[in-house]
Amino acid sequence: MSKKTVLVSGGAGFIGSHVTVELIEAGYDVVVADNFSNCDMTCFEGVQKIIGRKLPLEKMDFCDEAAAKAIFKKYPIDAVIHFAAFKAVGESVEQPLKYYKNNLVSFMNVLEAAEEAGGCNVLFSSSATVYGEPEKVPVTELTPRQPAMSPYGNTKTMCEDILQDTVKASGGKLRGILLRYFNPIGAHPSALIGELPRGVPNNLVPFITQTAIGKREILSIFGNDYPTPDGTCQRDFIDIVDLARAHVFAVTRMIEGKMKKGVEIFNVGTGRPLSVMELVNAFEKVNGVKVPHKFAPRRAGDITAIWADPTLANNELGWKATRSIEETLKAAWAWECRLAGK
Ligand code: UD1
Repeated sequence: MSKKTVLVSGGAGFIGSHVTVELIEAGYDVVVADNFSNCDMTCFEGVQKIIGRKLPLEKMDFCDEAAAKAIFKKYPIDAVIHFAAFKAVGESVEQPLKYYKNNLVSFMNVLEAAEEAGGCNVLFSSSATVYGEPEKVPVTELTPRQPAMSPYGNTKTMCEDILQDTVKASGGKLRGILLRYFNPIGAHPSALIGELPRGVPNNLVPFITQTAIGKREILSIFGNDYPTPDGTCQRDFIDIVDLARAHVFAVTRMIEGKMKKGVEIFNVGTGRPLSVMELVNAFEKVNGVKVPHKFAPRRAGDITAIWADPTLANNELGWKATRSIEETLKAAWAWECRLAGK
């Protein structure tokens, strides 16, 4: 059987670069496309080091309709994984149009180009943010979605609907999988790729690693009065390599025609809740470093607790999270140390 080709839009970013490595290790050809609006070449170069060869790279913006169509003509694309999107929750509240324009237009261009090229398998990177503050945890894929708390979250919900409608109307040309990520953290065990936030990190783990290394003075833990066992929020922190592997299972399921309907949805989480405080303590213990921290007021828009019921992904995709939180937090620290040249 000839090798299948996967286009990874936003493939030079944090999740995209890890997914690229796992796809290649599973025997796929990968074309990485990125406009480098929110990353540099570090992860792309890291990917090439890990796999030991050069990869096709297309510097392009999927908001450019002609460019999106051209790439589907240039390569025999069997599946596309769409990551190319803005992702800062706070910024999306301040600049909603920037988010709606970029995140929606780029995805619609991908779908149109894929359909015009004769059809394709489409994987969209959705988020647990679509569940809002759930009434019951863990959440299954049948847990109702809630109105988004930010324009960023809204773009995830809207792209889910755009995919559903487009697949339905495509007469079998398109199929899709929506992966709803919980909180992806960590880095590749090689420490050659990882998270590289610009400016002050919004997310917890990059803030922890930057504080531990001395780049930030102190970690603020947003809220210790939540109705949880220790008062801090609970999340489902999923190792980035485990998360990346879920994409390989999903792409293979689409390409092998094993889907049970036009669009399938899977939660990608561990099923294990961990509080912010537990995560900080685990990081300190496993890496033998201190993370200066203090309690601060709650952050607007944060929910109390969410974690996945990953049963459907376990049973249908045959995927399961395997890496321990200790391994994940060691990898996150090794990556930060490498960035600092230590
Ligand atoms: C956010 C987004 C989510 C996105 C995810 C990954 C929302 C509501 N959340 O998730 O859609 O997929 O990022 O990019 O849209 N925390 C601190 N101090 C810090 C940073 C974070 O205490 O300096 C706490 C937060 O209050 C929260 C937890 O750590 O309780 C996790 O925060 P974060 O890493 O930002 O992820 P989420 O907000 O869960």
